[in-house]
Amino acid sequence: MKHWQLITEESGIVLAVFDKAGESANSLSAEVMAEFGQILDQFDKQPPKGLIIRSGKEAGFIAGADIEEFSQLDTVEKGRALVARGWELFNRLAAVPYPTLALVRGHCLGGGLELALACRYLLAVDESGTKMGLPEVMLGIFPGWGGMLRLPKRIGPAAALDLMLTGKTLDAKRARKMGLADECVPPRVMEMAARQLLLSNQPRRPLPLLQRLLNGPLKSVVANGARKQVAKKARPEHYPAPYAIINLWAQHNGNALAAPEIVDRIISSPTARNLLRVYHLQERLKGFGKGSDFSASRVHVIGAGVMGGDIAAWCALRGMTVTLQDQTLERIAPALKRAHALFARRLREPLKIRAAFDRLIPDPNGDGVVHADVVIEAIFENVEAKHALFRLLEPKMKPAAVLATNTSSLKLEDLRTALSRPERLVGIHFFNPVAMMPLVEVVAADGADPAMVQAACAFVRQIDKLPLPVKSAPGFLVNAVLAPYMLAAMRAVDAGVSPETVDEAMLAFGMPMGPIELVDTVGLDIAMAAGQQLAGGAEAPRCLIERVEKGRLGKKSGQGFYDWSSGRAGKGAAGIVPAGLADRLVTPLIDRVEQLVADGVVADLELADAGVIFGTGFAPFTGGPMHLRQSTE
Ligand code: NAI
Repeated sequence: MKHWQLITEESGIVLAVFDKAGESANSLSAEVMAEFGQILDQFDKQPPKGLIIRSGKEAGFIAGADIEEFSQLDTVEKGRALVARGWELFNRLAAVPYPTLALVRGHCLGGGLELALACRYLLAVDESGTKMGLPEVMLGIFPGWGGMLRLPKRIGPAAALDLMLTGKTLDAKRARKMGLADECVPPRVMEMAARQLLLSNQPRRPLPLLQRLLNGPLKSVVANGARKQVAKKARPEHYPAPYAIINLWAQHNGNALAAPEIVDRIISSPTARNLLRVYHLQERLKGFGKGSDFSASRVHVIGAGVMGGDIAAWCALRGMTVTLQDQTLERIAPALKRAHALFARRLREPLKIRAAFDRLIPDPNGDGVVHADVVIEAIFENVEAKHALFRLLEPKMKPAAVLATNTSSLKLEDLRTALSRPERLVGIHFFNPVAMMPLVEVVAADGADPAMVQAACAFVRQIDKLPLPVKSAPGFLVNAVLAPYMLAAMRAVDAGVSPETVDEAMLAFGMPMGPIELVDTVGLDIAMAAGQQLAGGAEAPRCLIERVEKGRLGKKSGQGFYDWSSGRAGKGAAGIVPAGLADRLVTPLIDRVEQLVADGVVADLELADAGVIFGTGFAPFTGGPMHLRQSTE
């Protein structure tokens, strides 16, 4: 066999070690699964005392199905065959008479988790990389290899649907707590624990009665609740997969083969293909972090405001030691408070929260500069202030350290004149809110040191964001494409369409937030300034000028286009959306993307799509603005 190795121990236990040939991570291709079928054939004739399935890779257990094989699903027959392949194989595994155990260390996702669920026992190894989930929905498909059948039985339907509909993952401890893993052990005892559990004859923890009812006669209650939750986030015409998951579970016990019409609809919908494209775009962005041996461990951030404070917190969350500088300690304090809330939300365990907080060091004197591998400037948007700061910073910095600015609107060419090595300055442009936005633009001005740009990309990957290399130009990519879009939206308001109706037009198009609410969120003053810089001299919309004059600056001032006194946009009912409105609003955005690609601000159409999707949330099911234009032309 090419991908599996069988090791028979003296005790009669067999280890099936999965180590996919020629790849760094395990994925379930047709060939891998055929070999696994042969293993089961062999054991039908001569059953082992027990079977432990484990990975031979450092990278983890199994990352999922082979994504390249999805790309080749061009007919519904192929789609059905793909579903049948895993459904039947894992049903076979679930029915074998000898005990089976999945030893899960590292990622165990999608088809990998479906394989583990078909084993009698699941032993989770407690280390940071271990995560389990069924993220198929993020690719516009469903967990058709038994996940929709077995996960609800294992952890209860509400928790299972939550995982399957959001794609989120569980670490080892949470998996144990929720009953997905039978046990959770540290790496040093995993082999022994696996053998013991395998032969223990220990029955699985039964689901509580209520959960069994919800998974049986009361399914429709759970399904209706789940449909309502999904409807708040995704429209069925854009994202059919979550609705399919609920129906397949509720009406077909998770067996997609019993509802071939649902399989056909999903396989032939453009959404699945476009989300696959988005997945590949994301992988391409991740690739920009490779190819440099730069690795940061210490970061120094100057400016503890909205952006600097959150950038510092994010870096500390991702394991860096961070010094955070501002004019006084009082100015740093609010950032520390926000950081604590972020750590509590993301890390949950008190020891980990404490450790992250210890990595974030208030540094009003800027002592951290001398040790930093990356220095990020996020002070006021003012050239003189930034020059004065750079003059102080540069002589103290390590020669190979990256010097970055988070500026949104100043030219790097102007900022770097204060440096004796101007070529070292790069832009590392984060988006607000830092913790939520996956994209970071890495900005190179003409003549920038390529090694610095590479190092900046590597750093962005290290903190688990997606780097997009862009050339220095007003608004870079993301803000430059948002400006004409927001302008068009406000022009529609000037023309008498209500803000609610404008927003509804774009929500129906598939945007995560309406453009008018976006203006309120960004701030009307910022939108005004950006508009002046980016709208090519066009006059500002009346609705914007009037509100700015009255000090109605949006969310931050409590009033903008909407009333924000409750903390959310207080919207009235939307009117009937005028025909063609969404198209009129999105066209200037797409035109601008095209222009920026032609100007070389971003290297190609694919990367432009990636940037706009991950930097603005542009409807992912469309595959991105340029892809949308090309596919509708
Ligand atoms: P902010 O006004 O919230 O914070 C700036 C902080 O810098 C203040 O706490 C101030 O005390 C401090 N500061 C000013 N001069 C300093 C100096 N010489 N030494 C130490 N600290 C100093 O500003 P915000 O919004 O965080 O913006 C910072 C930078 O990030 C700007 O360049 C802006 O263009 C950029 N940016 C802002 C975004 C936003 O949504 N607010 C988004 C992306 C980039």
